Amino acid sequence: MDSNEIRKRFLAFFEKRGHAIIPSASLLPENDPSVLFNTAGMQPLVPYLMGQKHPQGTRLANFQKCVRTGDIDEVGDNTHLTFFEMMGNWSLGDYFKEEAIQWSFELLTSKEEGFGLDPSRLYITCFEGDDNAPKDEESATIWTKIFEKEGLNAEERIFFLPAESNWWSPGDNGPCGPDTEMFYDLTKEGLNIKNKEDFLKADDSQEVVEIWNDVFMEYKKENGKVVGKLENKNVDTGSGFERVTTVLQGKQSIFETDLFVPILEKIKELSSDYKEKEARIIADHIRAASFMISDGALPSNTDQGYVLRRLLRRAIRFADNIGMPENALLQLMPVIIDKYGSHYTNLNIENISNIIGDEENKFRKTLKEGLKETKDYVMKAEKGDFKVIPGKVAFKLFSTFGFPLELTKEIANESGVDVDEKEFNEEFEKHQEQSRTASAGKFKGGLAGHGEMETKYHTATHLLHAALREVLGEHVFQKGSNITAERLRFDFSHPDKMTDEEKTKVEDWINEKIDMGLSVTRQEMSFDEAKGLGAMGLFEDKYGDKVSVYSIGNEPNEICSRELCGGPHVVSIKDLGKFKIKKEEATSAGVRRIKAVLEE
Ligand code: ALA
Repeated sequence: MDSNEIRKRFLAFFEKRGHAIIPSASLLPENDPSVLFNTAGMQPLVPYLMGQKHPQGTRLANFQKCVRTGDIDEVGDNTHLTFFEMMGNWSLGDYFKEEAIQWSFELLTSKEEGFGLDPSRLYITCFEGDDNAPKDEESATIWTKIFEKEGLNAEERIFFLPAESNWWSPGDNGPCGPDTEMFYDLTKEGLNIKNKEDFLKADDSQEVVEIWNDVFMEYKKENGKVVGKLENKNVDTGSGFERVTTVLQGKQSIFETDLFVPILEKIKELSSDYKEKEARIIADHIRAASFMISDGALPSNTDQGYVLRRLLRRAIRFADNIGMPENALLQLMPVIIDKYGSHYTNLNIENISNIIGDEENKFRKTLKEGLKETKDYVMKAEKGDFKVIPGKVAFKLFSTFGFPLELTKEIANESGVDVDEKEFNEEFEKHQEQSRTASAGKFKGGLAGHGEMETKYHTATHLLHAALREVLGEHVFQKGSNITAERLRFDFSHPDKMTDEEKTKVEDWINEKIDMGLSVTRQEMSFDEAKGLGAMGLFEDKYGDKVSVYSIGNEPNEICSRELCGGPHVVSIKDLGKFKIKKEEATSAGVRRIKAVLEE
């Protein structure tokens, strides 16, 4: 069965049973700061599972885009992906176990309306009970009746398991409950499972795989503890589209289905030294990246942007590895759009190609140098009797060459060398900490306190300084600065009153950078090095041997501001808000003063 047919059948089945078909929510969660990406179909529906009324009613079904990167190292085998789609049907205080289980069985086994799977290859798990909730006899009884009707021995196919496998919750807080999971026997001859032990063995060896999960969400958790029942009894079901497609197409691997074969064929065509595993990783990562970008993610050094960057840079490295020419990844775009474009209409080939192409170009500018430096360190580590690259070095590779930690680790691991991750994380945190709360005393520009707003204004001041030099000319120098939580004030050398056009240009320049979400990095270097890099600073002041330089820009080639400064600064300028000049006036001959604010 073709994947498009599976998609159609799933939705039609539930539509016929009174479900409203809702579109997938964005991969980037709108109101949930606890996760970077939606990791399950139910995540965007949490408020409704908690009791809020859904505008489309009490029965819903959809395909939800999900990303899980926990197993990224496993991608390339037969079962793991970073991006996947989850099929789900929901009851919000409407039907419960009886209908949910009956429909799951019908959809899986019906030849006319569903997937036509063989009931005698189906195995079921149910919750065995604990302090939070009783044994789920009700689900087991429903399943027993279904199997008996098929003339199958229910005792040999329904097994009770503890909470770690049959209790589902999206995290420490929110809706949760016991679940019943459906497994399918993939072996050629068919297994002869008689009891729980046989089943667990078959599960371990992946001879049976989970194809659907019905969660009966009637409980709620707070801080990791079940604290009581929800207002409604809900059903949340989840079935992995790629996995079901694999089963229905009788394949051993996700990558042998029609969802991936065309992408892999294209990669093969483009590579001079094709390797299956690398090609699978590229296919997975570029597919995931395309969906992330369509939902608004941009490569950066923080949060979702970091995950996206990591996927893209990993894909680029593997593409090099199998002899794909530079920018050949872009030729995968039409294949991906062809597969998904009709269901996900926000997949825009130009937008995705631009961003992936840009990121590749940026990465290539530093890749060679970064690789060389990384390999130098690996060699040093190999020669010494320590087999670990210091975290400080990994952090330098990250901040200077844009090498995600994981990339450095991969390169090091190829030679049997490790990276001190703990130290990397300490460096990373220290850097953020410095950016956030470095002592105000170090800053000569008049930073009064170091609250969050002041920090933002401080970074905005650097942007303003750079923008003025860009728009008015290189004669502009900082003459003074004063910051409060409400505004910044900046004095600078310039002979004339600024025109409205110049002011707009300055604002636009700054807001454009903010929209790009550029990151701010701090580096220690000698005074001469800083001067050599063209860093701005009050050079008449005395500095010690080492100075700290703050740069704004994700990549060496897109740095738009570089200043000697003690901080603190924000880590990324994406949340600065909108920069607006409120006033421009003279303070003395040849010195102008700007007052500006950051608006929400
Ligand atoms: N929320 C359940 C899952 O993701 C259905 O497996």
